[in-house]
Amino acid sequence: MAESTRIALITGGSRGLGLEIGRVLARRGYSLVIGGRDRDSRAAATAELMRQAPAVVPVDGDITDAATRGRLIDACRTSGGLDVLVNNASELGPIGPLAEFDVPTFGRLFPVNVGAPMALTQLALPLLIPRRGLIVNITSDAATAAYPGWGAYGATKAALELLTRTLAGELREHRVSAVLVDPGDLRTRMHQQAFPGQDISDRPLPEVTAPFWRWLFDQDPESIRGWRFAAQREDARWLQPA
Ligand SMILES: NC(=O)c1ccc[n+]([C@@H]2O[C@H](COP(=O)([O-])OP(=O)(O)OC[C@H]3O[C@@H](n4cnc5c(N)ncnc54)[C@H](OP(=O)(O)O)[C@@H]3O)[C@@H](O)[C@H]2O)c1
Repeated sequence: MAESTRIALITGGSRGLGLEIGRVLARRGYSLVIGGRDRDSRAAATAELMRQAPAVVPVDGDITDAATRGRLIDACRTSGGLDVLVNNASELGPIGPLAEFDVPTFGRLFPVNVGAPMALTQLALPLLIPRRGLIVNITSDAATAAYPGWGAYGATKAALELLTRTLAGELREHRVSAVLVDPGDLRTRMHQQAFPGQDISDRPLPEVTAPFWRWLFDQDPESIRGWRFAAQREDARWLQPA
């Protein structure tokens, strides 16, 4: 299949890491469907990505809303199919000790960070199967490090990791692949939210992950099924591929 006919869906493709992934895919000739709630970010991202992508369809709405997910998949179907699904949109929630954590907040964080990616994956599968597609779920070192204050967000990413690895095995028979990517610390709105009022200018911009994405999208998805990658320069598997 020609590169130009490939299609990727990126949740939270309107800024931060999701926009950077969109840039890499646009340069490779993918048509894009990008999600996000804020109209101005969506419009700016669409205008930028359109300079290189054959087509960009922005889709408004909260990813926890089934209607939003339906519109994202409808946009892919109308565009011709789906090769790559990037579950990137995520929320941080409050940072602080679990002893003081507002437990009902789990009722927001798990649906955004875990439920929505799984529900979107279910909807996307009929499009991904014919193209032997790739699912990329964005995780975090908080999923494994047990950082004080980061327990709730980390728990959602830990759940996403387990589900992704399970899914990768279950989808083998359909020849669809799923991988996890920890992007590392990045200077984005979410990261600033984690460190309110602090100078985070020492963190790299999402562009630092571009070499990883270029490598990833060159791989046969079936050769990396179920793997977890670190996108910054700390992962020998993608820096020195066999
Ligand atoms: N930045 C870091 O240091 C870091 C480190 C490790 C992992 N990560 C992971 O990297 C991914 C991207 O994060 P980022 O730092 O790029 O964050 P960001 O700059 O805040 O971007 C988040 C994107 O997701 C969208 N989004 C958030 N909640 C949404 C919702 N409920 N419904 C629909 N769209 C939603 C946002 O658009 P709207 O707000 O307009 O909807 C935006 O496009 C996340 O999965 C995050 O957990 C980031």
